Amino acid sequence: MLMNRIEKAVVDSPARRALQRFYEVPALLRLAGGPLPSGSRAVEIGCGSGYGTRMILDRFGAARVDAVDLDPGMVARARRRLADRPGRVRLEVGDATDLRTVFGAEDGMYDAAFDFAIIHHIPDWRAAVAETARILKPGGVFVFEEVTAHALARPSYRILFDHPEHDRFTAGDFLAELPRHGLKVTGAFTRIRGDYLLGVAARQPTAR
Ligand SMILES: C[S@@+](CC[C@H](N)C(=O)[O-])C[C@H]1O[C@@H](n2cnc3c(N)ncnc32)[C@H](O)[C@@H]1O
Repeated sequence: MLMNRIEKAVVDSPARRALQRFYEVPALLRLAGGPLPSGSRAVEIGCGSGYGTRMILDRFGAARVDAVDLDPGMVARARRRLADRPGRVRLEVGDATDLRTVFGAEDGMYDAAFDFAIIHHIPDWRAAVAETARILKPGGVFVFEEVTAHALARPSYRILFDHPEHDRFTAGDFLAELPRHGLKVTGAFTRIRGDYLLGVAARQPTAR
């Protein structure tokens, strides 16, 4: 589900970018044990305007990022933001639940996958988790920052933003889903009474 105009403005605001840059990214880097190994290839689902993509390159140290968003307008913004990174970023319009169609992504093709507040926008969010797990190689990491059902039920979210109404997840629901797709949570925490979930999971070699 696409963001409405108000959410686009909030998500792309200086305040949100500061939160992401100075709090969320450092916290996720700590959970991940530091930057990615050199030469890592990453995928970012729901890249929005490409700010997170820059963080994945500059702070997480990915060599290359394939980034997708359902909204052509956001991908256009991301192309502008990342125009100085030719050859290191591929940006496509498409659905995070079908990365084979978007990037031709085979099983186990990526070292890392990033979800900066996008899976709660997908009605079949379990399909997005399954697809993210599919494209990670064994030992690959899934880095996530999510907005839970607790936050989406708050008046501010209900009045201002549009989100799927059914099958929303709590932090516990999200964390419980990951092992079903071979993802072992290696670190996670919630903030603001369970409204937001930040974490890292590693793709296990065997179970799927
Ligand atoms: C809350 S925004 C976050 C954007 C960006 N990750 C950020 O942190 O600024 C959620 C994004 O997910 C995108 N989105 C929603 N459903 C999607 C889907 N099924 N596949 C890919 N992107 C999707 C929206 O268009 C939107 O840009």
